[in-house]
Amino acid sequence: MSAPLTIAIDGPSGSGKSSVSRAVARALGVGFLDTGAMYRALTWWCLERDIDLTDADAVAAAARDLPLTVGTDPDAPTVSVDGTDISQAIRTTRVSTSVSAVATNLQVRAELQQRQRDLMAQIAQETGGVVAEGRDITTVVAPDASVRVLLTASEEARLRRRSTELHGSTDAAAVEATRDQVVRRDRDDSTVSTFTEAAPGVVLVDTSDLDFDQSVAAVLAVVTAETSA
Ligand code: DC
Repeated sequence: MSAPLTIAIDGPSGSGKSSVSRAVARALGVGFLDTGAMYRALTWWCLERDIDLTDADAVAAAARDLPLTVGTDPDAPTVSVDGTDISQAIRTTRVSTSVSAVATNLQVRAELQQRQRDLMAQIAQETGGVVAEGRDITTVVAPDASVRVLLTASEEARLRRRSTELHGSTDAAAVEATRDQVVRRDRDDSTVSTFTEAAPGVVLVDTSDLDFDQSVAAVLAVVTAETSA
């Protein structure tokens, strides 16, 4: 039996990594792991339990105890904590504005990175492969993945995409309103992970001038090239 296909995709906000990764998993018929959802789930759990996000040890303890389960169907990825489906709740502004404080906690990262490695192995075994996406997947979590891609796009293209997602518009006011989320969060997150430059062996795919289908095709072309080499 051939070894499971493990694909790691990282990149900055608005690079399209989430939707492209899901489509790639769908096309290949393998499971999908959204690692950002795990940081979001922990953030949601801490907010629910009134855990002070600036108390690094308390948040790290919550990470170790987090009763987290993830559904890895690329058509409907889900996240549950203690049996409650929080797939929608983790996308609220309340969670989005707090998640960097949790994701920059180094004890939390060590805990969730280990869970991500275990989940990748489990999904790969169950579905014959896995597409995992997140900031440090290609470098820290899965440096030995079969294929590693850094999906990137110009700041302008990333702002436009997020603005369409969040506000349904790319007029100047909407783009400005989005800037804080995209630029500030990436700046905060970049203190603990590198996702703007491809590490050795990681293939850079620039989607600035590509639409969604072209971005998916570009990543699938990398998968074909890397696995037939
Ligand atoms: O991709 P996202 O917006 O759902 O990620 C949520 C947060 O978690 C964001 O601040 C980036 C961070 N993150 C991370 O630090 N490492 C990962 N592997 C995935 C996400």
